[in-house]
Amino acid sequence: TQHIGIGMAGFGTVGTGVWETLERNGQLISNRAKGAFSLSIKKAAVRDINKKRIENAPSELFTTDWQEVVNHPEVDIVVELIGGTDTAFDIVAAALKLKKPVVTGNKALLAERGKELFALSRDYDTPIHFEAAVAGGIPVIKAVQDSYVGNRIETMSGIINGTSNYILERMTTAGLDYQTALKEAQDLGYAEADPALDVNGWDAAHKAILLATLAYGFTVPPEEVYVRGIERVRTIDIDFATKLGYAVKLLSVIRVHANGSVEIRTQPSFIPQSHILSSVNGVFNAVAVRGDASGEALFYGRGAGKEPTASSAVGDLVEAAYTFVHAAGHRGFLPYAENGKVLPIDQ
Ligand code: HSE
Repeated sequence: TQHIGIGMAGFGTVGTGVWETLERNGQLISNRAKGAFSLSIKKAAVRDINKKRIENAPSELFTTDWQEVVNHPEVDIVVELIGGTDTAFDIVAAALKLKKPVVTGNKALLAERGKELFALSRDYDTPIHFEAAVAGGIPVIKAVQDSYVGNRIETMSGIINGTSNYILERMTTAGLDYQTALKEAQDLGYAEADPALDVNGWDAAHKAILLATLAYGFTVPPEEVYVRGIERVRTIDIDFATKLGYAVKLLSVIRVHANGSVEIRTQPSFIPQSHILSSVNGVFNAVAVRGDASGEALFYGRGAGKEPTASSAVGDLVEAAYTFVHAAGHRGFLPYAENGKVLPIDQ
């Protein structure tokens, strides 16, 4: 078994979720990897070293210096969860230059500065994994990147900001005003550190840019995307929508036109109440992907929050860990729980 060390840059909501998931399911992960590796967090950079985050964490785990994390000799993979596009850029760039694979949940970083970072990823032959950056716990990045690799992607559309969706639902069903609903979303750990990005549409737009980049292969300049958020949606708009048989949702659409150019937009939209997306409520996201071979599929699940987003980050950590264990054999599935039991059907 190879022991693979993880360095965390940022240890907030999602970082704590990654720690807890590895504590709970680390052995299971190792079994699924046929014992090829085990994962453990070796160092974590945080802003406030005195803040209580998790029980039983050794005090020497934390530092306020991200360079200590990235350069740490026992850190093989760097997880970037601090958000923003400045320090986060420096962290990811430094890790790639040391050939340490990166796992990030930072859609703003990759949508705004992906061109530079993917160039580093290519130059240093080191991957950036970003399942946690799009649609929380829904594995839509891997679906588009891997499972649908044999398709031309015609459209991807849906609801990809949990905070806005939560706010719209609370305004609709509980009659809350916008500010109160936003406060709830923040308290539940759904909103970005800067919630302006959630409500002005940019968080969803960043995710749409990443989906388009995966499907069409080029980095999209953010200024070429149409973006409107929910901040000007009022209760009266929602009341009218309801009376007319619609739900108001923040909809993101990516579609390729006959001339090959790609349209990308995020905007509040009236969805007919008979349409499946109208019943995507609360923190849930849904992304409909249509490929020329696959036809349409709908990916639905929790789009934000500690555990769903940690689920995606841990999946990416395992993906990154395989970079170190080529010698362990093929990636194909092998059963790992031969003593599993099926409940007899007559009980
Ligand atoms: N703030 C984001 C959302 C988090 O509400 O969807 C998940 O990316």
